[in-house]
Amino acid sequence: MYRTKRKIKKGPIIAAVLIILIGVGGFFAFKEIRYRMSDTYKLLKIGYNETETNILIEKYNQDQLEQLIKDKKLEPNIPKLLQQKYYMEKNMDRYLKYLKENPETTVKDAVSLVNVNRDRDFYEKLEKTDTSKGDLILVNKYYKLTKDFKPDNIVPISNQFSYEGNEISKHVYEKYRSMWNAAKEEGLMLIVNSSYRDYETQDAVWKDYAEAHGEEWADNKAARAGSSEHETGLALDIVTNDVIMNEFENTEEFKWLQKNAYKYGFILRYPKGKENITGYEYESWHYRYVGEEVAEEIHNLDITFDEYYAYYLDK
Ligand code: DAL
Ligand code: ZN
Repeated sequence: MYRTKRKIKKGPIIAAVLIILIGVGGFFAFKEIRYRMSDTYKLLKIGYNETETNILIEKYNQDQLEQLIKDKKLEPNIPKLLQQKYYMEKNMDRYLKYLKENPETTVKDAVSLVNVNRDRDFYEKLEKTDTSKGDLILVNKYYKLTKDFKPDNIVPISNQFSYEGNEISKHVYEKYRSMWNAAKEEGLMLIVNSSYRDYETQDAVWKDYAEAHGEEWADNKAARAGSSEHETGLALDIVTNDVIMNEFENTEEFKWLQKNAYKYGFILRYPKGKENITGYEYESWHYRYVGEEVAEEIHNLDITFDEYYAYYLDK
């Protein structure tokens, strides 16, 4: 017996192997080309790290990504800013500028500050405020009331609740009386020290301060005419018996207001630690009516009204 040797045809095998190799190679080459065309690759190439790249892809829309890539802009503060709770797209360039000029400021603080215009000087460019916002009107060192602004329904506050001669908007008075009664039930006494002031009265307050102590001192304590919440009929300076304003923070009445004022629609308008945002020294006595719903939100979020307005109301 002898074996016949089967002749294997090599040609087709080689051809098959080649086809497979070309296919596999092509597949990987295609993948690589696609990767190199991707935003991820381009962002990494600019110099963003993997985490920053992922944030940019998640938070930016396609136009924004394309612009960033086109400009080859490496700015590690961008992904950090995009992650901030109160980040506002329209302010991106201002945040970056502020951080560049104030490198010691945190990204979180830069967002808060720029959102309330603190990259501009106080009173530098006063805009007329939007009075249609009603109880949510914003009055500060950037937004003013006109000289002829007169709130509706200003009524006198009875001496039972206030020192002599104070007035306030009628609906705010009603809320204040409810708050006053609730405090009274707990053995506490609230007294209004100052409330509605018209333009001329506010002007006199500021000028008295400025004459006595200089403009800078006055600006930290009082608003210039047109820029005071007292002109809206929505603000009350509250103290208690035998206590001057600067000592009010040490009283049980103050503690009670901290826990309860929001339930009646009032917020502490110039809190401690927020002086750079509000533009005023801490005022434990100044309460601003914004309505129960917004007061509760501001209380829970622990932000100033200026920040709340910029983020939630200035649409
Ligand atoms: N004291 C507050 C800021 C005012 O004058 O309105
Ligand atoms: Zn006040």
